[in-house]
Amino acid sequence: MRKVYLVGFMGCGKSAIGRRLSYYLKMPYYDMDQEIVRREKMTIPEIFEKYGEEHFRQLETDFLRNFRDEFCIISTGGGVAMNPQNRRIMRQTGLVLFLDATFPDIWKRIHKDKNRPIVQRSTKQELEDLFYKRRKFYREATHITIRTENRSLKQIVEYTA
Ligand code: S3P
Repeated sequence: MRKVYLVGFMGCGKSAIGRRLSYYLKMPYYDMDQEIVRREKMTIPEIFEKYGEEHFRQLETDFLRNFRDEFCIISTGGGVAMNPQNRRIMRQTGLVLFLDATFPDIWKRIHKDKNRPIVQRSTKQELEDLFYKRRKFYREATHITIRTENRSLKQIVEYTA
């Protein structure tokens, strides 16, 4: 196996599942957002505010293009699969897993989050619309879809592994 990419909407559990999966499969784990924050020495809201969303999207693509570790798990940001080039890179360099959560579950997890600019600037309805719009791109990017509703973290990880 090469890279394993976790894709899905904000709050679907990519980071939590990625970390556990990494432990379970003994593969190194990378959180793409954290890698970008570390490299840029800025938080994501700061990058959005100072340079704009488009710049952040470019940083995501640069990360995917240049990341060389071959045997690892990567949790991607919720917007990564929107870009066809990103989808192509992920599909060509690894296995793509889509964590398919329901909007009510996602909303519970993200609505108070100050660290997600997309949440900060959107109403609940706008986020729900974005959720359904993005779902088709996650599906397009993915090799395997994992429904997370009514499953514990442990069950999801065991099922995925
Ligand atoms: C984003 C999701 C975030 C982060 C940024 C933009 C998005 O990642 O990359 O705030 O556009 O959905 P998570 O999916 O890990 O929250």
